[in-house]
Amino acid sequence: PPFIITVDGPAASGKGTIANRLGALYGVPVLDSGLLYRAVGVLTRRAGKDLDSEQDAGGVAMTLTAAMLDDPEFRTRGAGECASRVAVHSAVRLALRELQLAFARTPQGAVLDGRDMGTVICPEAPAKLYVTATPEVRAERRWKQLKGQGEEVSLADVLEDIRRRDERDGSRADSPMVAAADAVLLDTTEMTIEQATDAARRTVEA
Ligand code: CDP
Repeated sequence: PPFIITVDGPAASGKGTIANRLGALYGVPVLDSGLLYRAVGVLTRRAGKDLDSEQDAGGVAMTLTAAMLDDPEFRTRGAGECASRVAVHSAVRLALRELQLAFARTPQGAVLDGRDMGTVICPEAPAKLYVTATPEVRAERRWKQLKGQGEEVSLADVLEDIRRRDERDGSRADSPMVAAADAVLLDTTEMTIEQATDAARRTVEA
């Protein structure tokens, strides 16, 4: 079977960094599924359509291709908020499912980073991680990251973003943010990125 590792967890838990490091370590491509939702959110807004309309956002999701993902705007704070709003729509999740499955089905394997990689997209993955950290620590990490990108925002506002997104992601009807029953939980609250990557690697190789 292909070598697939799923890395799920809430915003700014460290899952993206862990996924990228595992991908580099094992020489397999990494899917940042959040980027797909960010793209749909931003493109829906840019087209003057309604983020909260399943039809509007679902229509944009159906036209998304891998070639459209290379846009720095998708990494902004505003894009994260748009992403979590369009991510509640089943039509969006369904449209993005095919793109994600196509990525996961390559023979060389993959690392899949997201919210529902181990539960919905690739439940048969042999190695699953669920990465968490306290909201306060996640807010601090995201705040530093945004500052590095040149975004001026207060730590308190970022913490509020994180809490609101946790709430929205967790209350989704068809795909709530939960760990797969067979995922290994990795709480990175007190870990450096090196420690977290080491722990993830030990889990994968166990
Ligand atoms: O790290 P952060 O959560 O800020 O960003 P992300 O992983 O790029 O995800 C942005 C938003 O997309 C999340 O808040 C989720 O609402 C949504 N998302 C999702 O629903 N399913 C995924 N597999 C990935 C992201």
